[in-house]
Amino acid sequence: MKLNHARFLNRLETLAQFGASGVFKGVVRPAYSEPDLAARDWIAQEMEQIGLEVQFDPVGNLFGLTEGQSILLGSHTDSQPQGGWLDGALGVIGALEIAQASMEAGGPPISVVNFQDEEGRFGVTTGSAIWSGVLPLEQADRIVDARGESFAQARSKLGTRAQGWVDPARFSAFLEMHIEQGPVLDQRELGIGVVSNIVGIRDMRVQIDGEQNHAGTTPMSMRKDAFQALASFAVTLNAKIASYVTHETVWTIGHVDLVPNAASVVPGTVTFSMQWRDASLARLDQIQDCIFDTLQMVCAEHGVTFSCSEPLGIVPTQMDQSVQTALQHAAQELTPSLWIDMPSGALHDAANVAKLMPTGMLFVPSIGGLSHTFTEHTDPKDLFRGLDVLAAGVTRLWRRNSFPSHIA
Ligand code: GLV
Ligand code: MN
Ligand code: MN
Repeated sequence: MKLNHARFLNRLETLAQFGASGVFKGVVRPAYSEPDLAARDWIAQEMEQIGLEVQFDPVGNLFGLTEGQSILLGSHTDSQPQGGWLDGALGVIGALEIAQASMEAGGPPISVVNFQDEEGRFGVTTGSAIWSGVLPLEQADRIVDARGESFAQARSKLGTRAQGWVDPARFSAFLEMHIEQGPVLDQRELGIGVVSNIVGIRDMRVQIDGEQNHAGTTPMSMRKDAFQALASFAVTLNAKIASYVTHETVWTIGHVDLVPNAASVVPGTVTFSMQWRDASLARLDQIQDCIFDTLQMVCAEHGVTFSCSEPLGIVPTQMDQSVQTALQHAAQELTPSLWIDMPSGALHDAANVAKLMPTGMLFVPSIGGLSHTFTEHTDPKDLFRGLDVLAAGVTRLWRRNSFPSHIA
């Protein structure tokens, strides 16, 4: 197939206009926001123009379908509250270009997907988790975001767009191209990462309740200060976890809501996100136990109480060997000595879709290892190289050079 790099870059630039932050090429396009839905409507139009059949499912995952059995390519176009122009967008726009080029060339048959809420406004990779059966829809509908809106309320904004579920059986494999979002490829001056596995994640919301009181008159010995308890929890947890984790284990308190958040008030309540990631399921469990033990200890010391939401999560996931082989051969052919196999420390829709079909991922470098920030960027020549390798890998798969035998 003949890829059109200019068309691909032009579409990426157009998508970046939806929810443009005004800072570098950053975007503000959280799931189900106005710019998110407008971007999806634009992508639906592009799909239709290419000749794909458009279908939004009940949670807003957007499919561009080709007839019969096909390979599914894609990612997501929702963003973090402050996101970059490529996170997810690259995989969707790359998929559109390959679908269009393959149609012009008469094959292979490619369908495109744009998953909803990969960035976890309502949990973790919500749209693909529901489609893959990892998260029951009834459970997802009850999840509320940090501002108290439920998933059920948010997805009702789809209005008449929402149609039925797309049958996963029509797809033979799923491939997702993504920026690395970390420093490895950039530091080693490499162009392509073939993903071997995606780490597991757990994520929950914690609330610490103390006693709200006057910041001038309440003696230190009488305080039940929710913020001080959180600060102490964070420091104690760091010391405890650091003793048994690997250099790839990460844990983050990324969202904090202090009540009433006023200079002259001893804070009575704090709610915060607690997230941890690791490639080992056993270590994810170990960290979870450590978090609960530490909360118990610290809250007792501070005279406060705590409660936690049910941890949501994705288990560590291996990428399909046949898909990896196809991508490795394509990378070796097009960019010898510029590619490596590597794990993904970021989470991706591919981790869910791997439950349904052979799945693989391809990374291109992130300049400075920056992502989930407006300044995220990748040199267009690396974007083009990723597109070329993905298309070559897909073509190899379709020719069954390395296709798993159980696939039709
Ligand atoms: C997805 O963006 C993640 O948080 O890894
Ligand atoms: Mn992403
Ligand atoms: Mn992301």
